[in-house]
Amino acid sequence: MTDPARSIPAPTLAERTSVIEAKDLRMAYPPARRGDPVRPAVDGVSFQVRAGEIFGFLGPNGAGKTTTVSLLTTLLSPSPGSAFIEGVDVTSDPSEIRRRIGLVFQISTADGELTGRENLVFEAGLYGRSPATVRPYIDSLLARMELTHVADRLVKTYSGGMRRRLELAAGMVHEPKILFLDEPTLGLDPQGRAGFWKYIRYLRDTQGVTIFLTTHYLDEADQLCDRIAIIDHGKIIASGTPNELKDRMGGDTVEVVVAAGASDVTSVLAGLPGVLELHRSGDQYRFKCVRGESLVPKVVLACERVGVEIAGVATRKPSLDEVFLNLTGHSYREEGEVRSESNGSDSAPAELPAMGGA
Ligand SMILES: Nc1ncnc2c1ncn2[C@@H]1O[C@H](COP(=O)(O)OP(=O)(O)OP(=O)(O)O)[C@@H](O)[C@H]1O
Ligand SMILES: [Mg+2]
Repeated sequence: MTDPARSIPAPTLAERTSVIEAKDLRMAYPPARRGDPVRPAVDGVSFQVRAGEIFGFLGPNGAGKTTTVSLLTTLLSPSPGSAFIEGVDVTSDPSEIRRRIGLVFQISTADGELTGRENLVFEAGLYGRSPATVRPYIDSLLARMELTHVADRLVKTYSGGMRRRLELAAGMVHEPKILFLDEPTLGLDPQGRAGFWKYIRYLRDTQGVTIFLTTHYLDEADQLCDRIAIIDHGKIIASGTPNELKDRMGGDTVEVVVAAGASDVTSVLAGLPGVLELHRSGDQYRFKCVRGESLVPKVVLACERVGVEIAGVATRKPSLDEVFLNLTGHSYREEGEVRSESNGSDSAPAELPAMGGA
């Protein structure tokens, strides 16, 4: 007799460890004017986020990032499609979902008329935690976010960077294991962003927090995220690790400089396996290949064999800008500049002091 359980395929490792799952999410807002066509903001989005990873949701203004976050965090209902947090359908028990997640909104939510500490105590109260029990944890959060020295100042006197850090602390006040961050570093200067990344990595590495973050900074997704999904016009157009996405672009560019006056090594380099689009300009050679770093020793050996000395070798991975251009046919910046389509990004201050600054 066949065991009925055996006919159900065993879940894959990714499915077993996935803590956020979107299945064919769709959402269309009512058109702004009567008669305008209804355009989906999110148009069949599916992905899984694994436990303990930083998952980047990358896309230009108006791509559908905030709408997706809202669908995953019970602020909007998917229709149709479904979303699960730790296997729980987000529409079946919204309050349970909210207990399990932390959420930092794209727009600033801290109350300027309260101090930073009061904001955190208030937020903790929403999760049923009394000020007395939560105080030590709030003190440690304030210290971690380098806000102790301003903890008792009204938030309206904070810089933009301080506000952002306070809002991240507020998202963590009930110690969730899953954190949604919508454009957490928007408007921060490079130092402020680096400080934010440090804390986000700390949450992943030492607290085991799974982080879903949206960003339209390509370099941020590249440096911070374990995996990325790129969304454009409500659809996911690519996903994978930053390196996988770059490899799909035909790989790295390798530049080889030989000693001045050395003999031509075009045929030597062209004969190496995996060398594509080889160009020579004087003593410099440039070609593409899938994993540049693994080819470098072979380049050196092959040149040595024909008695040609190498003055330098460099490998360069394509940027995510190039990935985006390749996937969509338009540049990321070009799309990102269409700000009139967006809702809210413009509200963030443009110049903010560095994280940890006064
Ligand atoms: N409340 C709303 N009512 C009507 N349309 C909306 C609303 N919110 C968003 N949209 C539209 O839905 C689409 C997706 O918007 P969404 O805010 O999800 O994009 P986003 O990727 O978060 O953009 P940004 O980078 O500017 O924050 C856009 O065309 C936007 O204009
Ligand atoms: Mg947004």
